[in-house]
Amino acid sequence: MLFNYKNFSPMLFLVMLAMVAMMSVAQVSNARADDDEDEDTGHRPAVVDAKWASECSACHVAYPARYLPAESWRAIMAGLDKHFGSNASLDAATAREITAYLEQNASTRKHKVSAKPVLRITETRWFKSEHREVAARHWKNSKVKSRANCGACHTTADKGDFSEDNVKRPK
Ligand code: HEC
Ligand code: HEC
Repeated sequence: MLFNYKNFSPMLFLVMLAMVAMMSVAQVSNARADDDEDEDTGHRPAVVDAKWASECSACHVAYPARYLPAESWRAIMAGLDKHFGSNASLDAATAREITAYLEQNASTRKHKVSAKPVLRITETRWFKSEHREVAARHWKNSKVKSRANCGACHTTADKGDFSEDNVKRPK
């Protein structure tokens, strides 16, 4: 036993409560810091929204929020009826929930805020730099077809894990 119940004072209780609260705040900010690094290392984000996971994985892997800035997600979510040549419309409540989730978990790296936000992860400077060593023949491989087809090379993309350890260039 850490303490004796007979001597247990309300003051001590409050002090302990404050300590527990401080510890959880520290844990949350650690998790945040890790997520920022995730953008490079490609591990799964801590939070997943169930609607995002089901709706945004119907036609391709659910692209992680951390790979685009919030303004890009807002633009994508505002144009789902004309989404890269397909109609990915959602009811208003679902769209609102997914937009909020994407905004909250968006990339926080510095980028130029432009009138026309980038709509493709594959067109970001970050993506190009991360893939500069991927040869043209890999991009052109019939199993890849599109750069947006992350799962053709990232074998665990559907689980949100893009780490280098799980990359396999298609033969
Ligand atoms: C009806 C099918 C469909 C649904 C549902 C869908 N998408 Fe897409 N999405 C596409 C197609 C098609 C492309 C273009 C793929 C390509 O270029 O190879 C695309 C491309 C994208 C891209 C750009 C990929 C890149 O970097 O080149 C993003 C980002 C994206 N979708 C986000 C979303 C989000 C967020 C949702 C959920 C709200 C969603 N999509 C739901 C069909 C869909
Ligand atoms: C043609 C195969 C291919 C496709 C398609 C592809 N990647 Fe990659 N990706 C790679 C390879 C190979 C690497 C490792 C690069 C290196 O170190 O040379 C990589 C690296 C990465 C990394 C860095 C991983 C780390 O641990 O540093 C991330 C994140 C990433 N890719 C995300 C994506 C996303 C998101 C998509 C789809 C929008 C995508 N990739 C599509 C082949 C691909």
